[in-house]
Amino acid sequence: MTTMADQTIMSPSPAQAASSRAPGATGKPVIEIAGVTKVYTMGDNKVFALHGVDLTVENGEMIAIMGSSGSGKSTLMNILGCLDTPTAGSYHLDGIRVDGMSRNQLADLRNHKLGFVFQGFNLLARTSALDNVELPLLYDREGRWKDGKTMRRMAVAALERVGLGERLDHHPSELSGGQQQRVAIARALVTQPTLLLADEPTGNLDSHTTIEVMALFQELNDAGITLLIVTHEPEVAQYARRIIELRDGRVIRDHPVEGRRDAAADLEKILGDTPAGEEDAA
Ligand SMILES: Nc1ncnc2c1ncn2[C@@H]1O[C@H](COP(=O)(O)OP(=O)(O)OP(=O)(O)O)[C@@H](O)[C@H]1O
Ligand SMILES: [Mg+2]
Repeated sequence: MTTMADQTIMSPSPAQAASSRAPGATGKPVIEIAGVTKVYTMGDNKVFALHGVDLTVENGEMIAIMGSSGSGKSTLMNILGCLDTPTAGSYHLDGIRVDGMSRNQLADLRNHKLGFVFQGFNLLARTSALDNVELPLLYDREGRWKDGKTMRRMAVAALERVGLGERLDHHPSELSGGQQQRVAIARALVTQPTLLLADEPTGNLDSHTTIEVMALFQELNDAGITLLIVTHEPEVAQYARRIIELRDGRVIRDHPVEGRRDAAADLEKILGDTPAGEEDAA
């Protein structure tokens, strides 16, 4: 297996100059947090997982969140994803005040506005790609998509969007790691969220598949979807538009990506270098 470091990658085109937002994005704030602190009390000890984090994320951004193990990345993502609540500080999502909401209100908000992608894909094993993707629609708390035909159509469209229109009936074990992650991305997209949150989405993937998944994320972002991606890999962060680095629960760096890489171009370069017949056409 080659690593990303030993592949020669094309230098970015001028069109990829540092810009924090996708072309055409409105720049409206999607996330606004101020003074967000998360304290875990362990006996007599207090662990400050987050320590007064301020952050604004605008519509159309693609952000990589970096930082060493224990720096607070997952804690931040869980709060932004309305899976957890801050000990102190304010959070507005799409203009709606989130801190202080009840569990049910948070669940509704997640349903409406957020899509999640995880390192381990989290697909149901004995279930087809199509059924996996349809699940969030069936379990929609408000029953927004009542009719079965509409739900099917939406699930098929989501799988087509991630390039898996030919794999609808495959079970996870019949798909490659990259394809499984694309099913998970389709599942996150099917409810048409405002924001996609991904915690180490390429952590279980080899370098080539990582670039494939990043190409998909870049394509989705170019189409206007706002993306936050936690990653340990600097190579992965170079596909984002902005990098936020955490240390000990604080933001220590926040900057646009200079010389942002184009994953589709990187893939083309790799495929161009691969002798014919070695690549899986799927
Ligand atoms: N439920 C919990 N109870 C107590 N402490 C916690 C809990 N969850 C996280 N922590 C602590 O909060 C800090 C931040 O953890 P977090 O999981 O956010 O780190 P991370 O940056 O995601 O790390 P990794 O890269 O290893 O996933 C760590 O010191 C961790 O031990
Ligand atoms: Mg983590």
